[in-house]
Amino acid sequence: MSAKKATPDHDHDAIHKPSKEFSVKARIPSMAAYKKLYKESIDKPDKFWAREAKELVWQKPWSKVLNWKAPNATWFEGGKLNVCENCVDRHAAGPRKNKAAIIWEGEPGDKRTITYGQLQKEVCRFANVLVKNGVKAKDRVLIYMPMVPEAAIAMLACARIGAVHTVVFGGFASEAIVDRLEDSGATVILTADGGWRRGKVVPLKPVVDEALVKYKSVRRVIVLNRCGNEISMDADRDAWWHEEVAAASSKHVAKAFDSEHPLFVLYTSGSTGKPKGILHTSGGYLTGTYSTCKYIFDMRDEDVYWCTADVGWITGHSYIVYGPLANGVTQVMYEGAPNAPDFGRFWKMIEEHGVTIFYTAPTAIRAFIKAGDHFPAAHDLSSLRLLGSVGEPINPEAWNWYHKHIGGGRCPIVDTWWQTETGAILISPLPGATPCKAGTATHPFFGIDAAILDDAGNECKPGQDGRLVIRKPWPSMIRTIYGDKERYKKTYWSDYPGLYTAGDGARRDKAGNFWIIGRLDDVLNVSGHRLGTAEIESALVSHPAVAEAAVVGRPDDMKGQAVAAFVTLKGGFNESPELQAELRNHVGKVIGAIAKPDDLHFAPGLPKTRSGKIMRRLLKELVCTGKISGNITTLEDFTVIESLQRKIAKPV
Ligand code: PRX
Repeated sequence: MSAKKATPDHDHDAIHKPSKEFSVKARIPSMAAYKKLYKESIDKPDKFWAREAKELVWQKPWSKVLNWKAPNATWFEGGKLNVCENCVDRHAAGPRKNKAAIIWEGEPGDKRTITYGQLQKEVCRFANVLVKNGVKAKDRVLIYMPMVPEAAIAMLACARIGAVHTVVFGGFASEAIVDRLEDSGATVILTADGGWRRGKVVPLKPVVDEALVKYKSVRRVIVLNRCGNEISMDADRDAWWHEEVAAASSKHVAKAFDSEHPLFVLYTSGSTGKPKGILHTSGGYLTGTYSTCKYIFDMRDEDVYWCTADVGWITGHSYIVYGPLANGVTQVMYEGAPNAPDFGRFWKMIEEHGVTIFYTAPTAIRAFIKAGDHFPAAHDLSSLRLLGSVGEPINPEAWNWYHKHIGGGRCPIVDTWWQTETGAILISPLPGATPCKAGTATHPFFGIDAAILDDAGNECKPGQDGRLVIRKPWPSMIRTIYGDKERYKKTYWSDYPGLYTAGDGARRDKAGNFWIIGRLDDVLNVSGHRLGTAEIESALVSHPAVAEAAVVGRPDDMKGQAVAAFVTLKGGFNESPELQAELRNHVGKVIGAIAKPDDLHFAPGLPKTRSGKIMRRLLKELVCTGKISGNITTLEDFTVIESLQRKIAKPV
């Protein structure tokens, strides 16, 4: 984006201090208070985390807070709890019984409010349905649902009986379901006939059916009737959600599970191979999500909180389901697209439901900027008191627009850095304490020992770029890659033995703020979603016309990064706009629409090193600048680059 004159609206270097009004009521009211508690949490992590964990309900207390032998952590050893009881029952049993837990809007405009008391009954019923269908503790259950309350109910019901959910984003294609079924060994699927998105029904059950042609070990599919679109039901295998629930009791006693009992597996892209199943467990994960909600979102009983993520991503797990519900807050949940029927939808909902805390992604903010200021201006957004951002660095234009047009210049913005693997936010401002500057996630959360190291393992000086690492374990950390301890160790703990490497580049400024630069590995961040170049390449190569493929990211004003693909064709296939479209759609079919290449270039050959490795670095330079100026001495065939350069030569 172009540099603008430093008017107050575009003063990118402005430091925004929390207002007195916000600070006096905040849990952490000043930087001095943050620093004091941060020091304690780093010097005595056991003390800090034990105090946080004690705010949850444990059926049996732990004997040891942390048992750490890198890279294996056991948090709250000996302790037993039920995650669902903490998110639902303890509120339903007290003064929050009739408080709204979820205020939901479907895209077509249908609305439901579910109180904590009602949520408990629904979750118990569905837990009984799962038990009746033979689901036992530690069994994996795959969830492929739209953004409806039943998605949260399904996750909580799994947690209640100790089953391990693996949620697959509703935008993913059948191959993604097959991969996740194969890897997790799930035998039960919870889905819906479809969901609403941009005025249309997105079919879900037919995608499951397609996956189950390839993967035969699923014995039960429970289908929610959401849209009434036509689907087929296998009489032996498939059951309707409403029929199962109607026959189930609303009473279920929540049994306690070990603190390290597996809670869920969520798949995410890595730099090589298939997506990794990130395993999170119970006590530590809940403590981390609970505590970050409490301090970073400063959640209060009177708040109406809204996180616009989908439950198919980690943000939906930690900041729609577990963290907010563990805090007993009222939250808004929305099924559809931000522009349905137009870009005023979110602002209308904030006004109508009196939303006080709003958490969204920079990519959405950029779409709102493009749509026009008149959309938010048409609504009363004065209920808002705090804004959040997640998924990618927030560029100053987006930060300033969010601050002015949504936050009315009065709401602090928490730019939260974290990952599927970290389970909870690790670096973020605290809204009543931290002076904020557009584009920095500022300081580590309590107990998080974050640092930036150079290749030799030395701490970088202010202003110097390096790799972001976490030097001490934290409760909500990944426990392993499902079924692959070796890959877990190699991916996260081998760059600097004993330290967690996030895969992000970062730098700190003189004031100690962390600035996240982006992924250092072959992982793209498209609209805040992680996509592995390897996955997209293997999807392309699975098409009969493609001999070889290489995928790189290029900067994109709206999406952060766009997907640029280079393919070489097999003999007998010719370059054509039709084939280009077909290949893009093929990726959409194999992975999902978000992975479709934005640019697809046919190439006579790919630039390779003499040892045969594709030099993506050169392709990246080519798509970003239109030419190659870097070191190409290791290149095997120089003519490849020349012809590519001629072919895609485009202005910067
Ligand atoms: O590169 C960082 C970026 O998103 C990656 C994690 O992606 P995922 O596991 O899908 O989780 C996304 C939601 C937590 C990180 O390695 N990222 C996430 N939040 C930020 C960010 N980059 C900069 N600033 C952020 N606030």
